[in-house]
Amino acid sequence: MQTDLRGRDLIGDLDFSKEEVETVLDVAFKLKRDRALGIPHPLLRDKVLAMLFFFTSTRTRSSFEAGMAQLGGHAAFVDHTTTQISHGDTAKEIGQIFGRYYDGIAIRQCDWGVGNRYIRQVAQASRVPVLNMQCDVYHPFQILADLMTIIEKKGDPRGLTINVSWAYASSYQKPISVPQSLILQMTRFGMHVRLTHPPEYRLMPEILDQAQENARRAGGSFEILDDFDAGFRDADIVYPKSWGALLTTDDPEESARIGQKYTDWIADRRRMALAKPDAIYMHCLPADRNIEVADEVIDGPQSVVYDEAENRLHVQKAVMALTMR
Ligand code: CP
Repeated sequence: MQTDLRGRDLIGDLDFSKEEVETVLDVAFKLKRDRALGIPHPLLRDKVLAMLFFFTSTRTRSSFEAGMAQLGGHAAFVDHTTTQISHGDTAKEIGQIFGRYYDGIAIRQCDWGVGNRYIRQVAQASRVPVLNMQCDVYHPFQILADLMTIIEKKGDPRGLTINVSWAYASSYQKPISVPQSLILQMTRFGMHVRLTHPPEYRLMPEILDQAQENARRAGGSFEILDDFDAGFRDADIVYPKSWGALLTTDDPEESARIGQKYTDWIADRRRMALAKPDAIYMHCLPADRNIEVADEVIDGPQSVVYDEAENRLHVQKAVMALTMR
């Protein structure tokens, strides 16, 4: 167990070693048990987390805010539109100044080509840990919660087959950070990882290379498919979700036109039947219901989406308790 995480940032999934992720999960399971038993755990009494949002959120904001309160501290919600960032406050200034007020800085900045760079610039100037609440490249806390959920439902992840698949959605061009973080982290845990998508929805080449290398080291596998049904076949875990064609076009209208070719990429009962009978259905949410996934699947017996959302709370508390002490 790697126990010295004090002061560390978590921006990309690989910022923590596999052993450090195992420590996070160990602490998360303990905190989840303590909460179920009503055992107080004020590990961050008098500490304050800044939560700087450039993008909307339901789960992330609420789980970080509730988590800080449960740890005995406080979380300050900072909507970028109410700051002076648009009037000139730079990433360096945010890092320097927030680093003097707060004990941790959490940021969601998903703008394509901007978000990850911004968070790293803040971290460079900050004297306190910087936590990535989702950027254009990574969504590390979502994937820690996903890994915790897989372990709860399936036990040892080694050897399990997970299908990380694109699915159609009409609401907006969703970031590519969730599939990228999934293929990075799950390959480190010896899983057989399938990435399934139409050709226009490819991910960043350096992320694909890293996933391939992780799989080689961990004894799992990583493959890319372009057939939606084939991705489901005999999988233990299916994770079909939409993302934007960001590496193909930066024009939202063209991206929407491309998506129109694949409106039949919906996770429905027939597709679920292609997976193993005890397969679980996962989604980070929000989902476009009856477009991206049928109600009968997301509300069905194989869906674990609410446990998955709950686990955001426990893994985030674990990381905050380990890094912000
Ligand atoms: N899954 C997730 O990050 O949800 P929110 O966008 O609601 O925070």
